[in-house]
Amino acid sequence: MNTSKQVNVMIGLMFLAFATFAGYMVYEGPRAESAGERQEALLAERGAQLYVNNCRSCHGLEGKGQEEGGIAPALNRTSFLIMAEGNPQGVPATPDGEAQGLHDFLFNTLSCGRTNTAMPVWSERYGGPLSETQIGYIVTMITTGRWDLVIDYGHHHDEETGDTAETILISDPSTLSLTTKNCGQYNLLTAREFYDRDPLAPAPTEPVDGEATPTPGGEPAPVGATVQGLAVGDFFLATCATCHGQQRQGLIGPALTPERLSGRATDELIGILTNGVPGTAMPSWAAAGLTADEIAALVEYITTVAP
Ligand code: HEC
Ligand code: HEC
Repeated sequence: MNTSKQVNVMIGLMFLAFATFAGYMVYEGPRAESAGERQEALLAERGAQLYVNNCRSCHGLEGKGQEEGGIAPALNRTSFLIMAEGNPQGVPATPDGEAQGLHDFLFNTLSCGRTNTAMPVWSERYGGPLSETQIGYIVTMITTGRWDLVIDYGHHHDEETGDTAETILISDPSTLSLTTKNCGQYNLLTAREFYDRDPLAPAPTEPVDGEATPTPGGEPAPVGATVQGLAVGDFFLATCATCHGQQRQGLIGPALTPERLSGRATDELIGILTNGVPGTAMPSWAAAGLTADEIAALVEYITTVAP
């Protein structure tokens, strides 16, 4: 081999090495992503097992909540999803800030539980049974919507233990103890932005500025009625809904709809709100600082505005 041939071979080899490297770089993107997805699925699987072992009794065997006989709300909601880049649904990836906000909301709610509701504290940090890593697994399962893993593992689990929906689900919520710890958690009003999300929408929708907050059900609250500075419907959502249900359908306390309360004397209901019902979870709202006018506004709201 003369020198010029050796140089040609060298150049050839370098070119080959470069081409291989370039090819590898081209494949690096998709390879990294699928490894990331595999990792995520692994975490979600651990989350699914933790869900089966800890959460089914209240939120339902498949996370469908009250729809499948649970006493707690559904968790298999579209609004709890975080969409990844290049998702099969072909919708835009959830922006980082929005994804972080949802993650924090779920992580906080699991860690702290929810004051005055049956949702227990789960984080070891606040005296619960799960580590923050484990709580992270459950949040990943919820935000990636891997309820298929919950169902699979649940079947497997119940085959071994002989459990059925009847033995798993808590049927009487009034027997549960309420969470009293408050480590800065959300309530149904502050959580509302996470219920209203639609991560499957083809394009992000711009919030309309200056639009009045609608009362649940879209009905206007009685004119001028505010309780502690909030529209009466918002106050209900923030304070009463944890026991009486977001749709006022009844949960720990009975349903509070015009239909169900028709025929009840206004004075009697005002008395119940003012004094509470001793020996039950229903507190005295006069003792909690509400004025007589505010209590009357609440009674008017539950007896006249449909949910
Ligand atoms: C911590 C749970 C809890 C909270 C919070 C709560 N309630 Fe109650 N409420 C109950 C329970 C439990 C009962 C049923 C008491 C009984 O057994 O008579 C009840 C009963 C009532 C009743 C009587 C219903 C009937 O058919 O006799 C009214 C009215 C009522 N609540 C309104 C409210 C309003 C308005 C709020 C918010 C300001 C509120 N409650 C907040 C638990 C709660
Ligand atoms: C003893 C019953 C019970 C158990 C067990 C339970 N929860 Fe809950 N959970 C509730 C109730 C009740 C609420 C609704 C609180 C409210 O009305 O604000 C709730 C609310 C939630 C919320 C907020 C949902 C929303 O609509 O704002 C999340 C998230 C949640 N639970 C996750 C879990 C997970 C995950 C587990 C298992 C580790 C679990 N819960 C176990 C009773 C329970």
